[in-house]
Formats: sequence, C-alpha cells, structure tokens
Amino acid sequence: MVQTTTPETETVTFPEMQNGHAAFHAIKTVAVIGSGTMGNGICHLFAQKGFEVHLMDINQLALDRALATIGKNMDRQIAKNTLSEADKTAAMQHITTYTDTAEAVSDADLVIEAATENIDLKVKIFQQLDKLCPEHCILATNTSSISITRIGSYTSRPEKVIGMHFFNPVPVMKLVEIINGYATDEKVTQTVHDLSLFLGKEPAVVADYPGFISNRILMPMINEAITALQEGVAGVEEIDTIMRLGMAHPMGPLQLADFIGLDTCYSIMNVLHMGFGHPKYAPATLLANMVQAGYLGVKSGEGFYKYTPGSKEMVVSPRFKKRTV
Ligand SMILES: NC(=O)c1ccc[n+]([C@@H]2O[C@H](COP(=O)([O-])OP(=O)(O)OC[C@H]3O[C@@H](n4cnc5c(N)ncnc54)[C@H](O)[C@@H]3O)[C@@H](O)[C@H]2O)c1
Repeated sequence: MVQTTTPETETVTFPEMQNGHAAFHAIKTVAVIGSGTMGNGICHLFAQKGFEVHLMDINQLALDRALATIGKNMDRQIAKNTLSEADKTAAMQHITTYTDTAEAVSDADLVIEAATENIDLKVKIFQQLDKLCPEHCILATNTSSISITRIGSYTSRPEKVIGMHFFNPVPVMKLVEIINGYATDEKVTQTVHDLSLFLGKEPAVVADYPGFISNRILMPMINEAITALQEGVAGVEEIDTIMRLGMAHPMGPLQLADFIGLDTCYSIMNVLHMGFGHPKYAPATLLANMVQAGYLGVKSGEGFYKYTPGSKEMVVSPRFKKRTV
C-alpha cells in the first residue's frame, strides 16, 4: 500500500498507485523543479488541470518571471475564449513557489525536473530529490537528451525515474515523449502515459537511446541544414523556404535552430556523437563556431537571423550574405 502525508499530517493511502492503470488519479501534488521556459509552461498546464503545483527555482527572480509569464499566457487564452477569468484565478491559486527543494517536494506525488540541461546539475538534483521526496513519488525529467538510465542510477529508486519530455510552448504543443530508462517500472510508464492523456496531450513512449526519437531525428536534420549552408549549397532563406514549402514544415530548420538555441542544438549533437560514436552525428563546424562566438539565435539576438525586440519580421543575419540568383 502506498502512503503519503498531507500538510495536516493526516495519512492518506493510494491503493491505485500499485495497479498502474488509473494510478494517475492518485497524483494530486506536482513539484516542478526549474521555472524557466519549460518549467513555467509545465506549471501552467498542471495548474490549469487542477493539480496543486509547487514551482521551485534557486532563483527568486526566475520564479517571479514565471508567475508573470503564466498570468500573461492565461490572459491570452481568455482573449481567445479558451479560458475564463474564474479558471485563471483558480489555476493561479493552485501554484505555490519555493526556493527550497525540501519544502517544495515533501508531499509531492510527482516531480518534474526542468532545470538547466547539464548532466552534473541533474545528477545532483536527483540525488537530492531521492532523499527528500516521499517513497511513492515518481521522479520525472524534462531533459532533451540526457540518459534517463544514467540519471536514475544515481537514485535508490531507478524504477520510478522516467523521462516526461514536453515541447515548447508546453500549454500548446500536443506531444509528450515518454522515455523509459532501462530500469523504469512499466506501471510508472502507464501512470505517466495516462496522466499525459488526462492533460490533453498525445503521449508516445520510447526507449532510452541518445536523443530519444525527437532529437535523434530533428537535430541531424538541423545539423545537415547548417552543413549545407556552410558549403554554400544555398542561403539561409532558400534552405528555410525549401523545407517550409516543400516539406510543409511550419518553420525552416535554421529558424527552428535559432528558436531552440544554437547552444542547445550543439550540446544535443554532442550527446548523439558521443552516444553513437558515429561521425554522421559530428556537429557542423559552423554551428560550433557560432556557439563559441555567442551567436545563439533568438536568446542572444542573432543566429541565422537577426532579431529586433518588438519585431516579428524575419531578417537574415548580415553574416549570411544573400546569394544572387
Ligand atoms: N527550451 C526548450 O525548447 C526545451 C524543450 C524541451 C525540453 N527542454 C529541456 O527542459 C529543461 C529546461 O530547459 P529550459 O529551456 O526551460 O531552461 P531555462 O534556462 O529557461 O530554465 C532553467 C531554469 O532552471 C533553474 N535552475 C538551475 N539550477 C537549478 C536547481 N539546482 N534547482 C532548481 N532550479 C534550477 C534556472 O534558474 C532556470 O530558471 C532542460 O533540460 C531542457 O533540455 C527544453
């Protein structure tokens, strides 16, 4: 029998937690670690669905920014008539912020870690979570590329460690890529799968290989687009236009790379390269150079395109001089 304790120290039993199916109903309190781009989106989604959300970050400013962003994004939903003012008020009341991990996770049924993409940091966080979370608590990570098996191996409960990979912006994007570590219990996978459906998402379960499925396929495509640019096969606009109009992608691979962040693309390519040991995954030299020079895309103001605050116009960076026909 799985037990947890409410803030009033009354003991509540969750027999469903043992049965896998419908076990997600036992999840009432969700702690989200990291309140950046992904953390605030995950918090928004769970709060809107009525969960108690404990949003934790080491940085108080990041927490303040996250609450402001969630409020603004909910206002946008209200303007589109997809959310009422009353729903927004209720959702915001479900969110509590913390800078202390122990306080944030002491009564959590599920933790979703969405802190900075760094293996050493994630290992440290999971070691802490393992000590601080109730025994029944599922420990999920939103990592884009780090091995779930490796993260789980630093805890005493690798069977409860799983990848729950949301996409940006979380309230809008339908996919949840669920990644089973080597030791993940199938009941835990079932719970996270059913929970994803309840959240209105479309879950897809995959095994723990470098880049999982999403980034194993997406990142080599982006890397190939950068290699083609580097070789002078076509310009930035031409490459993105061909992939948008010819393949019906909503945005071209170079624009998408700018949106994701070139540093993130570079680190995922390195994970693929090291993980598979195959030269086809080597990051493009142009990508490495741009990252080293600080041209990271939207977040730094310039990548393949140049970004002006307040403007949505796509302007190719002057560094990629347009070829004449
Ligand atoms: N940005 C995306 O498009 C995207 C998509 C899918 C998955 N991810 C993954 O989600 C995770 C978060 O990415 P992001 O883009 O939101 O990053 P981000 O840089 O926007 O936010 C990270 C947050 O983590 C906080 N943090 C750092 N150390 C912490 C700690 N010890 N405890 C608590 N908080 C801590 C930082 O203060 C920051 O607010 C990463 O693993 C990333 O790979 C990102």
